[in-house]
Amino acid sequence: MIRIVVLDDSTDAMTQIFRLLHDQREIEVVGSAADGQAGLQVLRETRPDVLLLEMDLPLVDGLTLAQTITKTMPSVQIIAMSANSDLASVRRAMHAGAREYVVKPGELDDLADKIRQVNALDRTGPETPTSGQEQQGEVITIFGPRGGSGVTTLTVNLALALRQVSHGEIVVVDGSLQFGDVGVMLNLHSERHIGELARRVEEVDSAFAEQMAVAHPSGIRALLAPPVPEMADLVTGECIRRTLAALKQKADYVLYDGGHYLGEPLLAALDASDRLLLVSTPDVPSIKSTSLMLGVLDALDFERRRYSLILSHVGRRHAVRTQDMERSLGTSAFACLPYDDTGPLQAANQGRPLVDSDPDASLSRAVLQLARQIARPAQEAVPSKEAPKAKRRFAFLGGV
Ligand SMILES: Nc1ncnc2c1ncn2[C@@H]1O[C@H](COP(=O)(O)OP(=O)(O)OP(=O)(O)O)[C@@H](O)[C@H]1O
Ligand SMILES: [Mg+2]
Repeated sequence: MIRIVVLDDSTDAMTQIFRLLHDQREIEVVGSAADGQAGLQVLRETRPDVLLLEMDLPLVDGLTLAQTITKTMPSVQIIAMSANSDLASVRRAMHAGAREYVVKPGELDDLADKIRQVNALDRTGPETPTSGQEQQGEVITIFGPRGGSGVTTLTVNLALALRQVSHGEIVVVDGSLQFGDVGVMLNLHSERHIGELARRVEEVDSAFAEQMAVAHPSGIRALLAPPVPEMADLVTGECIRRTLAALKQKADYVLYDGGHYLGEPLLAALDASDRLLLVSTPDVPSIKSTSLMLGVLDALDFERRRYSLILSHVGRRHAVRTQDMERSLGTSAFACLPYDDTGPLQAANQGRPLVDSDPDASLSRAVLQLARQIARPAQEAVPSKEAPKAKRRFAFLGGV
């Protein structure tokens, strides 16, 4: 049962919220108030899981209340509600400790889903937002030289698997900027996306980046691709660099779906990554392209131990044998993901990754095994974080 408190001075809004939550069996409204002072009292008495907080409250305003609650009752997850949809209002609320922002009245329709998503997020301790000791998570870029190799399927499943295995904070970033599929594969719809960060690159920090990432019921977050392909060009290498650096301050793992286009954003992600997963499939065209990509990584001076070869679609009819692939590429596979004729397709159609919908499927088990390998203690498994060699990268791009 998710226990919630509603603080709102509008009777109409309160009625609408109660009506929306009426038939949600696992959500219970344990208290409500129409001003900030009474609200604080209700919160102290009830200690709910989630607080629905109108930002424009009388007596004690929503921002002050959010800051107080974040410090004194960090287990209460706050959903800010407001008629203001401007980015500055959203940022202020998130900086004050809100985990979600709902624009009234339109976005109230998804309220029950938002409550479930926010309730699944990790509870941050009171010291976390103000502490100067920011953690540094691991950035993992998943990419492949050819489209349709299973990069996004691996990314979303690995995100859920890492969450299960490590119980850490996981953020997926959709770097397939023109036609990103992370949103559909996770069944997430939002007006927030990476394009918003691209519009204000110089303001990107961990709070802004986290706030643009949408919460998923599993507890992970996803920073979605722009909603239309035309916006992809807005997202520069600098935007990716800043976004990944900002997100790794808060998350344990940042998974970047790098797609297959070797442009400035992907190169920036490769530079910013602690680990690269290069996805290939067992067929001759893919061997050729993977071999070229390995050549690029060598030219960029990536240490071999910073990247791992992942073979997807293993066991498909007429596939090249794994040992033959490894011999041709001169490197062994870090993980083999079996071919599954129906599972990934059904999962994508339902917007529910296979690791969640069918954890016993052989593909799910292979991804979970990969997550365990990645989440092993640092000294055993985490590749070195040595600074990338930027000079070589620019040389590769033709000299800038
Ligand atoms: N292990 C697998 N076995 C069988 N089919 C798979 C497997 N992994 C992914 N697929 C299927 O292959 C297709 C492409 O997968 P996916 O979208 O993950 O690839 P991608 O590399 O991200 O493609 P794109 O380059 O278009 O972004 C999808 O139909 C997906 O369901
Ligand atoms: Mg993809």
